[in-house]
Amino acid sequence: YTVDWDATAAVKGGFASFMDKEIHDQPKAVADTLLGRTDPRGALVLDELRIPEATLRSIDKIIVIACGTAAYSGHVAKYAIEHWCRIPVEVELAHEFRYRDPIVGPRTLVVAISQSGETMDTLMAVRHAREQGASVLAICNTHGSTIPRESDAVLYTHAGPEVAVASTKAFLAQVAACYLLGLYLAQLRGTKFPDELREILEDLHALPDKIQRVLDDEEAVRHVAQKMADEESFLFLGRHVGYPVALEGALKLKEIAYIHAEGFAAGELKHGPIALVDEGQPVFVIVPSPRGRDQLHAKVVSNIQEVRARGARTLVIAEDGDEAVVPYADVVFRVPQTPSLLAPLVAVVPLQIFACALATAKGLDVDQPRNLAKSVTVE
Ligand code: G6P
Repeated sequence: YTVDWDATAAVKGGFASFMDKEIHDQPKAVADTLLGRTDPRGALVLDELRIPEATLRSIDKIIVIACGTAAYSGHVAKYAIEHWCRIPVEVELAHEFRYRDPIVGPRTLVVAISQSGETMDTLMAVRHAREQGASVLAICNTHGSTIPRESDAVLYTHAGPEVAVASTKAFLAQVAACYLLGLYLAQLRGTKFPDELREILEDLHALPDKIQRVLDDEEAVRHVAQKMADEESFLFLGRHVGYPVALEGALKLKEIAYIHAEGFAAGELKHGPIALVDEGQPVFVIVPSPRGRDQLHAKVVSNIQEVRARGARTLVIAEDGDEAVVPYADVVFRVPQTPSLLAPLVAVVPLQIFACALATAKGLDVDQPRNLAKSVTVE
């Protein structure tokens, strides 16, 4: 009597692909990244940030440098850190940063985000920033890798090893780490009251369960994805933190399903991209919480109407209970109610599931997409 045993299949834990498994690891990736970073009173403790507190108090600008999916996590960080800390945050692709004579000095905090810690473009940007006198903080998933070793400090994401080329759980962990950094700076610089910070932290700690709830509904997303395997292009629209989510949703489809996909800031639609919309064009729209204080929700709902009026098929990511989107949505994928700034951690999940299911339906190897490498160690 023998048992066929395949080591790779065992590591995939019963999932069809590493990507599928890693998407399902996300509640844990986020929970583990948050774990042990608060004291019993609910204050953030990031002892690992060896950059002196005085330096962190004196910084007048943050520049996030990264590539690919990691850069989109930085894009989310910009919204959160600027709001909580009132420090200007720029986000720049690492390979652009070095070549534009950036204004960097001792009061600049450069945050380098990298899953692998080995991306050459990001590493070269780190070196450049340090030469200019900036403090560099790495947000990284791989212990002992080059980028953290060459940085002044590191905040590790605890997503566990990511095998699939297209990043999923590392992205969520990066976003979570960026929130921790933002809240820590707000605590240090006194831009938020302790009880406000505690409330945001509680909301953050509620996220793993909410991500799990999105995963529990994955069948509905898969079903739609399988039916759309022959589509040639997708558009993704979002505003505010929904914008980087749109970019990431489009990137996932390009990377693993080889489908032309573009993400836009929804407000930009009327300035050009709406010309792309004609009969049958699939358009994903990431809808912000209707409970937000600003006009964002109403604006995005009217963007859905605008594309629908031109024949688009609308796939809408919206909060539970948001009925305003229903009349204009061909399909609604629901996510749990989440404070606006934290919503990317749930909103991106249906987009990952969608790309993975669609690529699988096309018979593609989702873990090893053509022409791509997990870690790009050349410039
Ligand atoms: C490669 C991968 C992407 C990843 C990017 C940045 O291009 O294919 O999935 O987002 O590198 O990688 P890093 O390891 O620096 O996060």
